[in-house]
Amino acid sequence: MRLLRLSGADPTATPDPVGDGAAIAEAAAVLRTRGLVAFPTETVYGLGAIARSPEAVARIFAAKGRPADDPLIVHVLPDWPLDTVVAAVSPVFAALAAAHWPGPLTLVAPKHPSIPGIVTADGPTVAVRAPAHPVAAALLAAVGEPVAAPSANRFSYVSATTAQHVVDDLGDAVDVVLDGGPATAGIESTVVAVEPGDDGERLVVLRHGALAVEDLTVELGIGVDVVDPDPDTRLAQSPGRLVRHYSPGTTTLACPAGATPPSDLPGRVCHLACDDDRAAVPGRWERRDLGSVAALDAVARDLYATLRAVDREGFDTIVVQLTGRGGLGAAIDDRLRRAASGRLLA
Ligand code: TXA
Ligand code: MG
Repeated sequence: MRLLRLSGADPTATPDPVGDGAAIAEAAAVLRTRGLVAFPTETVYGLGAIARSPEAVARIFAAKGRPADDPLIVHVLPDWPLDTVVAAVSPVFAALAAAHWPGPLTLVAPKHPSIPGIVTADGPTVAVRAPAHPVAAALLAAVGEPVAAPSANRFSYVSATTAQHVVDDLGDAVDVVLDGGPATAGIESTVVAVEPGDDGERLVVLRHGALAVEDLTVELGIGVDVVDPDPDTRLAQSPGRLVRHYSPGTTTLACPAGATPPSDLPGRVCHLACDDDRAAVPGRWERRDLGSVAALDAVARDLYATLRAVDREGFDTIVVQLTGRGGLGAAIDDRLRRAASGRLLA
C-alpha cells in the first residue's frame, strides 16, 4: 500500500498543485489497471475501483469483507452525461442532481445495462453521486470514467473520515491511499430513490445523511412526494440500512434523547453525549463528548473519529445518547442507533 500525502492533508501547509497532480495521476493509473484507491470525499473516505470492471469491483468486496448483496455507489463528475450509468435521466433526477451536485446526495434509479451486476448486487437500480471534495473530483477527472466506491472501512465497522482510519482498517488490501485531510461533513451521503409514484415521481429516503432531508426539495420547483420509509420494509432495497452497521467493537447501547439510562450497567461505562444535552447518569460513568447540539455539523464531522477513539479505550459498555433533533440530527441519530446495533435503552 502506498500512502500519498496531498498538500490539503495539512491545512497550514502551502498548497502544492504540482505534487498533488502527480499523486492524483499515480492514483488514476492504479485505478485504470484495476487497482483499489482510497480517496477523501466531503462525507467519508471512499474505497474506489473502476465501476465498469467486475474484477476490480470484486476486490472492493474482498478488501472490506463486504457481502455481495450490498450494492455500491457509482461516483461521477456533475457534468458527465449519465446516459451510460442510469437507464434514463428522469426530470426529478435531473433537477435533484442540478440542485445538489457536487454534494452529499446519492440518487438511486434504474441502471444502464453496461453497469456490471456486481456493482448493484444484481439489482435493477444503481446509486450515483458526484462528490464535492476537490481530491475526489480531480481523481474522477484524471480517470475519466465512473468509480464505484463504498466507505473505506471494514464491513459493519465505523466509517473512515481520515486516511489513517483507512490504513488502520484496510492496510495492504488497498493499493493507494490519498491523504487529503479529514473529511469535512463526516457522515455519509443521503441516499434517495427516485421512483414512479401515483402522481408523477416520488422520492424515498433510503438513508439519512449529510444532506438534511428538509433541504432536499427546497429549491426544486417541482412537486414531489417525499417518503421516509419504515426501515424494516426497505431493508431489502438498501442493505446499508442493516441495523448492525457503523458499529464499534465495544458493546454499545443507545438511549433516546431526554431519557435517563438505567444505572445498573456493570463495569466501566462510557456516556457519549452532546455536552449540552446530557441525561443524569451515575457518577462512576465516564463522560465523552460528541460536541454541542447547537453545532450538529461539528458533531457529524467528528462522530466517527470519536467512536473509533472511545472504542479503543477498553470500556465494557458505551452508552450513546441520541440527539432527538431534526436536520442533520436525524442522520447522527441513525448512525448512533446503528452503532448500538439497534439496542435501545429506557
Ligand atoms: O458518502 C457516501 O455515500 C460514501 C462516499 C464514499 O461516497 N459512500 C458510502 O458507500 O457510504 P457505502 O457503500 O458505505 O454505502 C452505500 C449505501 C448503502 O447503504 C447501500 O446499501 C446503498 O447505499 N445503495 C447502494 N446502491 C443501492 C441501490 N441500487 N439501491 C438502494 N440502495 C443502494
Ligand atoms: Mg459504508
